[in-house]
Order: sequence, then C-alpha cells, then structure tokens
Amino acid sequence: MPNKANSFGLGQRIRTYIRFWTKAKQWQSVHSPYVFGLVKHIHSSHFDWKKYRSIESLRSKLKRDNTSISFQDFGDNGVSKQRTVRDIVRKSAKNRAQCKVLAQIIEYVKPEVALELGTSLGISYAYMAASVPQATFITIEGAPAIAEFASNNLSDLGIFGNIKVGNFNDVLPQTLKALETVDFVYVDGNHQEESTINYFNQIVGHLSKTGCIVFDDIYWSEGMMKAWQTICDDKRVSLSVDFYHFGLVFIRPGVIKQHFMLRL
Ligand SMILES: C[S@@+](CC[C@H](N)C(=O)[O-])C[C@H]1O[C@@H](n2cnc3c(N)ncnc32)[C@H](O)[C@@H]1O
Repeated sequence: MPNKANSFGLGQRIRTYIRFWTKAKQWQSVHSPYVFGLVKHIHSSHFDWKKYRSIESLRSKLKRDNTSISFQDFGDNGVSKQRTVRDIVRKSAKNRAQCKVLAQIIEYVKPEVALELGTSLGISYAYMAASVPQATFITIEGAPAIAEFASNNLSDLGIFGNIKVGNFNDVLPQTLKALETVDFVYVDGNHQEESTINYFNQIVGHLSKTGCIVFDDIYWSEGMMKAWQTICDDKRVSLSVDFYHFGLVFIRPGVIKQHFMLRL
C-alpha cells in the first residue's frame, strides 16, 4: 500500500485537481487522431457492465471481509504491516469508475501482451483481463499473502491469475527479459519518484511501437508529479496524455511529440 507519509493531504489534492481542471481541455478539441479515437472510445462506446458484474460483487464481498493479512509493503520501504482485507480493498483497489476507464483504455490499445505492476487483491487485473481476454497477461505483487488472496479471488471469477510474486526490482527485469516485448503496462505500485522513473526506463526499452504505459495516480505526491514530468519530457515519448487519475505514454515512432491534459 502507498506510503502515506509522502502523499499529498486532502487540501493539496483539491488544489492539484482544481489546477488540472482549469488547464485541461475538453476531449473534443484533440487533434491527434489516435488520442481522439481513444477518448471518443471512453466517452461514446457502450460499456458492457454485465461483463464486470461478478468483479463488483467480489469487491463488495471483500469490503466486508475482516480477514487480517500480514505483509511487507515494498511500496513503503518494505515496512511490515497488518491490514484487514476490507481495509486493503477500500484503500488500494481502483474504484469502479476508474476500473471502467482502465478497461476501456486497454480495450482500445488491444495488447497481445500486457503487464501490471501492483496486483493487490486482483480487482484492476480482473477488469483488464476481462476486457482483453485474448491477451497474455502478467501481474506482479510483492506481498506473498496478498498475492495468494488475489489468486483465489481471480480463480473464483474464472480468470487465470498469472501472478509473479516478488519485489518489482527483482521480478520486473526478469519478466521483461522473458516477454521481450510488451504492448501495455499498468504501473500501480510504489508511487515514489525515483522508482517510477526507473520502471519507465526499464519498460520503455521493451514497449512495442504501438504500445502504451499507464501510470496510476500521477498527482499523488510531489515526487509522482515530478516523475510524470520527467517521463513526459523523455525524448522516447511521442504522445503523453494526462487524465489526472492516469497518465498514459506512447512511443509511436514518426509521431511529433505532443502532450494532452484532458478532462474525462
Ligand atoms: C495500489 S496497490 C494495487 C491495486 C490494484 N492495481 C488494484 O487497483 O486492484 C499496489 C500494490 O503494489 C504492491 N507493491 C508496491 N510496491 C511494490 C514493489 N516494489 N514490488 C512489488 N510489489 C509492490 C503492494 O504490495 C500493493 O499490493
């Protein structure tokens, strides 16, 4: 779970959101055909909630689960913690609206190979895997007890939970080497500036030409905002899209570098 000590408090969150809202454009004004297609897909396509109903039932069940889990939190300098399942799902899992957007982004990108950093109890993985069932999907989780819980959750949903257990520092390089190329990566763990830039640098070398990296919570802290800025400025990135809750980057060769701040 994220290290609260470094994250913005409520007041700062409100301020960053207002600043984002005043600077961000309406999606209809986007000139890049690819990005326009993406936001149009998010706004206009029919979202088949029926496909995700069992995941939301699982979320409701987990919100009532008082089972206590002990784990080492690699997102918080490896500190040992004990949390109930209900606490983990309430604080760590993407909410229903954000999972919908994530599912629509991955649906639009249509990856053959996808990767998630930060499984937690498997909610976002379940949404993404249900959206692109044909993709090879891997997710990485540092805490073995949480990964085991996620694995059971996913098997209850009838979704194959391809979970690699270990610290991103060890498992990410091995996984990228084994996959060679990835088309979609969702980074949702260890929201520290240096680590986020380090994951980006590792992933970008393996990203396919049509691939996408999604960073979660780019306004979560000063460090995450700086990391997001560094990533957007990177020469290898051609398109970057700031949706506030998510930051997306594409490397599409031949495309003139552009940055978008868009209200969804
Ligand atoms: C915010 S939660 C992921 C939530 C999940 N994506 C969802 O929406 O359902 C982040 C997870 O990443 C894991 N994590 C954080 N830093 C990590 C690291 N360095 N290595 C491995 N796992 C890590 C934590 O244990 C935690 O379960």
